[in-house]
Amino acid sequence: MDQPAAAMNETEKVQQHYNSFPFPKAAEIQWNPWMLWELNTLAGRWGAKPIPEDGRILIAGCGTVEAVMWAKSCPQAELYGVDLSSESIAITRSLIEQLRLSNVRVEQRSLLELNESDGEFDLISSYGVLHHLKDPREGLSVLRRRLKPDGVMNLMLYNRRNRYFLREFQGLVELLCPDDAAESREAMGKSLTFDLLADDSRLRETQQYASAQYENDRPYWADACVHPLEHDYNLDELFALLKNTGMQMLNWRNPRNWHVAPWLGSPALKERFAALPLQSQWEFADRLRMPLFEMLCGRDEDAAPEFPWLENDEALLEMVFVNPTIYRLEVKSNIVVGKPSTSRGCGFEAIPGQPDRMKIHTPGGLHLTAHPFFQILINQLDGQKTLRQAGECAAQQAGVEFSAIRQTAVGVMRKLLIPHQGLVCSPA
Ligand SMILES: C[S@@+](CC[C@H](N)C(=O)[O-])C[C@H]1O[C@@H](n2cnc3c(N)ncnc32)[C@H](O)[C@@H]1O
Repeated sequence: MDQPAAAMNETEKVQQHYNSFPFPKAAEIQWNPWMLWELNTLAGRWGAKPIPEDGRILIAGCGTVEAVMWAKSCPQAELYGVDLSSESIAITRSLIEQLRLSNVRVEQRSLLELNESDGEFDLISSYGVLHHLKDPREGLSVLRRRLKPDGVMNLMLYNRRNRYFLREFQGLVELLCPDDAAESREAMGKSLTFDLLADDSRLRETQQYASAQYENDRPYWADACVHPLEHDYNLDELFALLKNTGMQMLNWRNPRNWHVAPWLGSPALKERFAALPLQSQWEFADRLRMPLFEMLCGRDEDAAPEFPWLENDEALLEMVFVNPTIYRLEVKSNIVVGKPSTSRGCGFEAIPGQPDRMKIHTPGGLHLTAHPFFQILINQLDGQKTLRQAGECAAQQAGVEFSAIRQTAVGVMRKLLIPHQGLVCSPA
């Protein structure tokens, strides 16, 4: 039972919020059979100390669907999810039952209570959670103690630039709210969403955004507009938080969000940008794109990540790739329907008048041109074969020598991979 509003501390307010608005609206679960491959690649663990397929995974603040997504994506792993919200845990449990998942267990519990008796984990995901704690640093320290020495942490924290106008809107709700009850916040937030009439207020666009979210996705609206507690960070504060808790960033989880070089339209601009220190390049990207801070982190005594394929063709050819398809589960009135996501795979398009070239659209939104051979090659990437082996099979299928298409394979894979890799975190 939630406490009466007057007696609530910060944690209880957050708990009450997520009992009223379990997050996210469990309408679609995206899962990815290549999830561990992708994380190992991005975290520089490919080859050395990968996250094991049968490892232990903790989802700290699992909400309604995150534990299910990981359990589907990592069928051999042992999953444990905790969340403050009993409502979110109940939704997760019903999905686990519907999907007959046997590798995942969830409990209504604060992540701050995790201790030695829970053991250590190979992978910990805490996505969009720590910034809702009174003291995020305490939360991160608790999680660090549960991480194996060479384990990987998947974190998302709010970027201040990204949240700026929403925080202003939340501030209006805060000023007008008579008490801390979730119903009062919802009523006041709803009123500000629809009854604030000023056409020229600086929050006009935020208000429009809020009204669309209110109609489409109530938990999303509530998270954005009436949340009782959120912290946000700039890049300096983010790295200070990691340093002060004994963590280091291995890479961005979605490096393409930080990859702004294609937007620099002249060689001189590109050259000047490339000469900037890494952190200034990130600041540049932050000012342009203000992405959420989605990161893969490790303990700071851990070895620096390795990305041998960045420069070296031979290392690239010995790497195992996967066909980049992501799957979706749609949850429709208690029935879970599974289908591959058409929007997230690699798409190929013929170029009229150019039979020896084709366009490739990648899951990350990158558009490249390549030889049509590349489509045959992509279909050979099964998570088992190295690029060289897949290239040899594809060459045989196409009736050519591998040596004739080696450069196509290496060149395009590097282009695909490096933008995903983005601005790789330098060991220094
Ligand atoms: C924005 S939701 C994110 C849910 C999930 N991680 C996802 O990405 O879909 C934040 C979640 O963190 C949970 N949470 C907040 N503080 C927590 C704490 N101290 N311990 C465990 N869960 C917490 C909330 O109940 C809520 O479900």
